[in-house]
Amino acid sequence: MAESREKEPFHWQSAISYKTRERIVVRGYDVNELTGNISFAEMLHLVWKGELPPPNVAKMVDALLVCFAEHAMSPSSASARMVMSGAGYIMPALAGGVLSIGYTHVDAHEAAATWIAAVELMKEKGWTLEETADFLAQGIRRKEKDDAFVRRFGDRKVIPGWHHPQHIRDLRSPRIIELAEHLGVAGDHVRFVLALENATEKHWGRKLYMNVSGAISSTLVDMGFNPDECLAFCAIARSVSITAHCIEEKNREKGWRASSGSKITQPLDLALQKPDYYDGPADRGLPEEKIIEPLTRAPYHYLGQPKNE
Ligand SMILES: CC(C)(COP(=O)(O)OP(=O)(O)OC[C@H]1O[C@@H](n2cnc3c(N)ncnc32)[C@H](O)[C@@H]1OP(=O)(O)O)[C@@H](O)C(=O)NCCC(=O)NCCS
Repeated sequence: MAESREKEPFHWQSAISYKTRERIVVRGYDVNELTGNISFAEMLHLVWKGELPPPNVAKMVDALLVCFAEHAMSPSSASARMVMSGAGYIMPALAGGVLSIGYTHVDAHEAAATWIAAVELMKEKGWTLEETADFLAQGIRRKEKDDAFVRRFGDRKVIPGWHHPQHIRDLRSPRIIELAEHLGVAGDHVRFVLALENATEKHWGRKLYMNVSGAISSTLVDMGFNPDECLAFCAIARSVSITAHCIEEKNREKGWRASSGSKITQPLDLALQKPDYYDGPADRGLPEEKIIEPLTRAPYHYLGQPKNE
């Protein structure tokens, strides 16, 4: 029989905070002293990274939160609206919007991991930024990827944090890069994404541009954030927008998003899902041997003969 080991009674172990009946202490600071004295951006840095940020980092974090807070109709706002139109209250709708964030909408985690891997490779090999950017662009573009490339960068066919289906050249990235440089937070990862923009032309035949996630992730990595934090950062900023869309949906719309009485065609209108748009198997009946309970009545038979509607 295995020897029984003495265990400590369960307790939470955390370096983030503690609380007693009298005090709430976050990373060593009393929450009431923080309240009114630091910005939300500084608090985010303190809670996540353990220390208050220097002023230039605080300003950059705040700027990124502002930049990513709202973007009209995107997968997150649209899905939050659809959840609100069905569920009718804030929490599932807010969660639904956040849950739509990932590989094609935002993608900041993959982007951050790629910039980190690229800068590591550059240092390992003693390459220039341009040589490393060329290597990454070529590797992503190549149809048959070699194992060493996949182990380091994965097997995606597109550059993470790159291109925008609505703007093509994302309007927000140049502003982020400008600020990162101006505030002195831009380092190797920001410089790498700039080199990668230049490298795309050779491999795609046209220049492809970093999107807001490419710019945010490279800036955050240069400020010491990791890939998970980069994606979560974007989700936190975008929750501001998702909430506004949920509330507007609730206050302005009827729910269900299918009303034929509405002034504009609704996304769930029957007209948008007619048999003409169906391309699955043709209409068919169950084989006779499967029919145990024959259907003998028309829908609404209990209402009697239909009158003219
Ligand atoms: C968001 C995304 C799905 C949009 O793709 P899309 O709708 O196919 O975009 P477009 O139709 O405008 O693409 C036009 C062309 O650019 C290519 N392209 C698009 N994004 C690309 C990328 N990130 N890297 C390389 N090529 C890309 C497409 O393959 C297509 O090429 P083709 O015409 O030779 O087939 C795609 O850009 C992507 O996956 N980007 C990475 C994820 C990301 O950063 N998401 C955050 C967006 S804010």
